[in-house]
Amino acid sequence: MNWYTALRGRGSFNEICLLLVACAIGWGCTGPQVECLGINWGTLSSHPLPSPIVVNMLQANNISKVKLFDADPNVLRAFAGSDIEVTVAIPNDMLEVIATSTDAANRWVRDNVTQYLVKGGVNIRYVAVGNEPFLTAYSGAFQNVTVPALENIQNSLLNANLANQVKATVPLNADVLTSGDSMLPSAGMFRDDIQPQMKELLSLLDKNQAPFTINIYPYLSLQQNPNFPKDFAFFDGSTHAVVDGSHVYNNVLDAIYDLLVAALNRTGFPNMPIFVGEIGWPTDGDLNANVASAQKFNQELLKHVLSNIGTPLRPGGPLEVYLFALMDEDQKSVAPGNFEPHWGIFTFDGQPKYPLDLTGQGRNVSLTKASDVRYLPLRWCVLNPDGDMSKLAENVAYACTHADCTPLTYGSSCNSMGVPGNASYAFNRYYQLTNQAGNSCYFEGLGMVTSVDPSTGSCRFLIELALSSAPFRPPASLTIPFAGVIALLFLWI
Ligand SMILES: *[C@@H]1O[C@H](CO)[C@@H](O)[C@H](O)[C@H]1NC(C)=O
Ligand SMILES: *[C@@H]1O[C@H](CO)[C@@H](O)[C@H](O)[C@H]1NC(C)=O
Ligand SMILES: *[C@@H]1O[C@H](CO)[C@@H](O)[C@H](O)[C@H]1NC(C)=O
Ligand SMILES: *[C@@H]1O[C@H](CO)[C@@H](O)[C@H](O)[C@H]1NC(C)=O
Ligand SMILES: *[C@@H]1O[C@H](CO)[C@@H](O)[C@H](O)[C@H]1NC(C)=O
Ligand SMILES: *[C@@H]1O[C@H](CO)[C@@H](O)[C@H](O)[C@H]1NC(C)=O
Repeated sequence: MNWYTALRGRGSFNEICLLLVACAIGWGCTGPQVECLGINWGTLSSHPLPSPIVVNMLQANNISKVKLFDADPNVLRAFAGSDIEVTVAIPNDMLEVIATSTDAANRWVRDNVTQYLVKGGVNIRYVAVGNEPFLTAYSGAFQNVTVPALENIQNSLLNANLANQVKATVPLNADVLTSGDSMLPSAGMFRDDIQPQMKELLSLLDKNQAPFTINIYPYLSLQQNPNFPKDFAFFDGSTHAVVDGSHVYNNVLDAIYDLLVAALNRTGFPNMPIFVGEIGWPTDGDLNANVASAQKFNQELLKHVLSNIGTPLRPGGPLEVYLFALMDEDQKSVAPGNFEPHWGIFTFDGQPKYPLDLTGQGRNVSLTKASDVRYLPLRWCVLNPDGDMSKLAENVAYACTHADCTPLTYGSSCNSMGVPGNASYAFNRYYQLTNQAGNSCYFEGLGMVTSVDPSTGSCRFLIELALSSAPFRPPASLTIPFAGVIALLFLWI
């Protein structure tokens, strides 16, 4: 069988350690295996769960590392006094100003790092500089600013005397990698168009003993290529194993990880620690995005990465991974696909979607749900069958331009409800989005409020969270973060 990879779309470790198979420490993840696990907390939600409730939920589940996509003070304050290790981030649209102004970099570090590093403060450990800035889909927009921004932030951390405590890294999508003509993990190298940038970036990371951060999406490999063998996305063996010399790859995570190991080695950084900055599986919005697949993937993933197996090129020791993601986010762009709002292991309101053993032992145990969650009143908006049906389509379209109707799409949890069910779902999402505002269930006489839960089967008609402060913000700018448009495309011939 033939396979090839196409990538498109958008230190302190020592040599002795390399020879020891059971060396867990060197690759960056130390201590008990459960400490190798982190989670991404994105906040692109119309009704975000209050930060203190989220932090309690993290603690109740023994989650000890969290990666954020910005440095929102309302989120950061909630971590005060907890031991949770936090990664704060600089969004791509701030890279240019930070790249061109050391003052801006100093201010960013002072406001978003230093001020929290006090007794009883926040355990900030990493700064993510940009989010997948070299994604092919960005057409080089951040190509010239990423490395200078990283350098400025590193210097600011150094000047603030924090260089040992807080490390700066750049989360990159797996599309920075290519396998050339041989199409094997061992042939891994960095994409031609970013070779100079990658060399500088690696030197900076190395000089500061910072990890390389890579986002890997087996789900996207599968979703974007109908010929991708499904079992290669999972971890329980594959009928499509990839044989690379003496190494056999049974899953795409190991293959991409080692593609990176080989690329780092080829560039002269064989021992650079690697973090998997994002990895996960969505539960809705696509045929392959469902609760059963997500549970299978995440459960097997944790068993695999938290074991001492490692990968063929880096055997021994757990991998350091950050699950994507903590909760669903209804304001995410659906440009990558209708699955995009549905990556959470928890729903938007902090309910576990499926049993998951975060210790990697694969037990059938439930996550601990959020407590003290406050909801809007138990009221739903549904289709009024006596309304003027000639106006239905435009009203449904209106509701869905604002509210998240992705569960109605093909292969999704609410796809088989028929026209009236569709309309009710759309109307309710809009009604909840607007905090059940009086006139928001009107829809030219087509909507009516009910106190009977219209949920059926897998289709949940949700009630939104009661917001203590910030009212609903219109979903005007749906920008970042993409979950990584395209990871690795395996074509099977
Ligand atoms: C969290 O860790 C503590 C101490 O290690 C343990 O007793 C507890 O059972 C763990 N809780 C969960 C939900 O894993
Ligand atoms: C700190 O981070 C926040 C949130 O990402 C951002 O709005 C703010 O501009 C940053 N502060 C500075 C001084 O750059
Ligand atoms: C980046 O720099 C190169 C070489 O100086 C230049 O050709 C290119 O236009 C720049 N890209 C952007 C987005 O500014
Ligand atoms: C790293 O590169 C050297 C040659 O520079 C090669 O001998 C070695 O096998 C490579 N190791 C890995 C893990 O790719
Ligand atoms: C896991 O536990 C739940 C209830 O705790 C049960 O309904 C389910 O069947 C169990 N699944 C397996 C695979 O044992
Ligand atoms: C319900 O809405 C979805 C998404 O707009 C659409 O794909 C589906 O065909 C609709 N079903 C019916 C019966 O109209």
